[in-house]
Amino acid sequence: MHDGSGLIAVQNLTKHFGPVAAVQNLSFTVSPGSVTGFLGPNGAGKTTTLRMLLGLVKPSSGTATINGRQFHQLGQPGRVVGAVLEAQGFHPRRTARNHLRVYTAAIGVPDAQADQVLNLVGLGTAADRAVGGFSLGMKQRLAVATALLGDPQVLVLDEPANGLDPEGIAWLRNFLQSFARMGRTVLISSHLLAEVEQTVDQVVIVSRGQTVYYGPLDHLRQQQQRRVFVQPSDVAALAAALQADGVTAIEQLPDGRLAVSGVDSKHVADSALRAGVSIYGIQEEQVDLEQLFFRLTSGQYAGHVPAPSPYQQGGWAR
Ligand SMILES: Nc1ncnc2c1ncn2[C@@H]1O[C@H](COP(=O)(O)OP(=O)(O)O)[C@@H](O)[C@H]1O
Ligand SMILES: [Mg+2]
Repeated sequence: MHDGSGLIAVQNLTKHFGPVAAVQNLSFTVSPGSVTGFLGPNGAGKTTTLRMLLGLVKPSSGTATINGRQFHQLGQPGRVVGAVLEAQGFHPRRTARNHLRVYTAAIGVPDAQADQVLNLVGLGTAADRAVGGFSLGMKQRLAVATALLGDPQVLVLDEPANGLDPEGIAWLRNFLQSFARMGRTVLISSHLLAEVEQTVDQVVIVSRGQTVYYGPLDHLRQQQQRRVFVQPSDVAALAAALQADGVTAIEQLPDGRLAVSGVDSKHVADSALRAGVSIYGIQEEQVDLEQLFFRLTSGQYAGHVPAPSPYQQGGWAR
């Protein structure tokens, strides 16, 4: 049923709205079998990029393709890509099943597919209920069900975790990961790293329409210099031993511990052992991904009055 592999390719994509450069020379690819997080603060250009991928906005330059084709070149787009965009409108008095049946005809799939996707997203028992009475989480599931109607190879979701409770986020995570494990492609945007951190295999981080990081989250963590905090019996002796080992980034903290950069805790402990220094405590610094994300994307607000930051409202500048 699926033609092509489900590869998303964004190449030198640029979009200007008058004087606003919403997206600037953006490039990344999303491979099948993985969940990719498309991250950046509000206004970074995520929605504009996804809308260009879905043929809803015309790029100023560059291309966004699925299976090597632009959206309008896809023969049956509903069979190739399903999308959940922000602010989905549902007719409040329509039942979930009838909402979906509006689309089955348009996409050209049998009506029975409506019940199948409702079961897939865990709404099977709510099929005959009016959508107006749905919780936000149920509406998000219905939006995902709508995107799944054409049994697409590629799923694109714009801020799907917005307003979801922890249970909804956990459901979405499991769902997207198992969808990707079937060999399909998932691209999911968010302005909150914490919301998708455990869901995604790799991330594209954008700020002011430009890529600031592209790759696995683990690599991002590892790129950061972690310090080792150590409490030795003899600070001067350990510092000397480390220096003799070629470690130069050593700092004494006010509490008497040493902070050592560029080596792991094993290295520090081995140096101490050789120098005959006891260690009373040792730990590696934890890299706070949220702070990292903030640092990577905070340039977006350079020059602006820094109050009140949307990050604080979003709850990740703790
Ligand atoms: N239709 C539009 N007309 C004018 N400016 C727009 C339009 N859509 C988006 N923008 C601007 O483009 C920038 C990126 O917006 P958007 O893609 O919605 O970012 P995000 O989804 O990351 O929050 C913002 O400065 C926004 O105001
Ligand atoms: Mg957006």
